[in-house]
Amino acid sequence: MPTDSLNIMKNSDIAKAVQVLREGGLVAFPTETVYGLGADASNELAVRKVFQAKARPADHPLIVHIGSVNELPDWAEVVPPAAKQLMDAFWPGPLTLVFKKRSYVLASVTGGQDTVAVRMPSHPIASELLQAYGKGLVAPSANQFTHLSPTSAAAVREELGSVIDLILDGGACELGLESTILDVSREKPVILRPGMITRTMLENVLGEPILVATNETTTRAPGRHHLHYAPTTKTILLPTEKVAAYARSLTPTDLPVVFVVRHETVLPHETGNIHWVTMPPAAKDYAHELYRMLRTLDQQHYQQIIIEDVPLAPEWEAIRDRLTKASYTQC
Ligand code: TXA
Ligand code: MG
Repeated sequence: MPTDSLNIMKNSDIAKAVQVLREGGLVAFPTETVYGLGADASNELAVRKVFQAKARPADHPLIVHIGSVNELPDWAEVVPPAAKQLMDAFWPGPLTLVFKKRSYVLASVTGGQDTVAVRMPSHPIASELLQAYGKGLVAPSANQFTHLSPTSAAAVREELGSVIDLILDGGACELGLESTILDVSREKPVILRPGMITRTMLENVLGEPILVATNETTTRAPGRHHLHYAPTTKTILLPTEKVAAYARSLTPTDLPVVFVVRHETVLPHETGNIHWVTMPPAAKDYAHELYRMLRTLDQQHYQQIIIEDVPLAPEWEAIRDRLTKASYTQC
């Protein structure tokens, strides 16, 4: 697949996608975060197909994607002033907002809750598709439930190729991590899933501190399912200072393994059965690479993937969240 396929995306591909969606089919499309599995959000049968395709539990709600702010009142009952400020600042873009829902929004979309999550993506193919369709699309990440989100059309094909009617190829996703989810349906906004739009960025717009969900503040925070966003290979997250000792402690039965590090100096040396890959130093570049890297390593029959932990800084928060969810053990 050409990586510059964005430039060669034809109008006929969008027209075909619209046709498939009108008929209740499934279209995978690129967004600036990860690839989504799109279906008409007001078509019960189409929404049901999404759950079947992903083997996703029915109480796990979906995000409605829109192509214009004018469509928001179709889904949200109330749009609080804080939400308007954030939409002005970050839409279109990787921020999902959770609103009180309109009464008619399908329970299958909301997981039976009284709220609906809405996002307006900035990726040109996503925008073009959503505007051409003119109605909201549910679009969970285009992967099997609990697997890593796909950041390329090839990864979508691997995950769901046999059950999708059409895949729009936009090359590699720019951000590589799922959107920030902020619940604005409560008195105080709460981050349900960290993303590359950080808490600090949101606080700078609203001028007040924002809470991050814990299990106490939310009953259905996304990605809290055991081993969400996980490779199938045993994955371990280690602080920088423990990496070298861990490498030395490995016995022949543990091998082969691969270390995913940020500092080349943390490891003694590469041997036949101890491999390592170095990730980019900046959070933005690290996020862009992460799922692609984990997906590749997951296919290489390692016994373990050992990941060096990332800094405790706001721009790394979403990455740490996904690494924690990907790893079986934390030391
Ligand atoms: O970046 C993204 O958001 C990607 C792209 C494709 O747009 N989509 C995505 O969708 O990550 P999904 O379905 O994999 O994750 C959506 C998360 C779910 O974990 C779900 O729990 C949460 O959004 N969610 C949806 N509706 C919600 C609601 N009403 N209240 C709280 N959480 C909700
Ligand atoms: Mg997902």
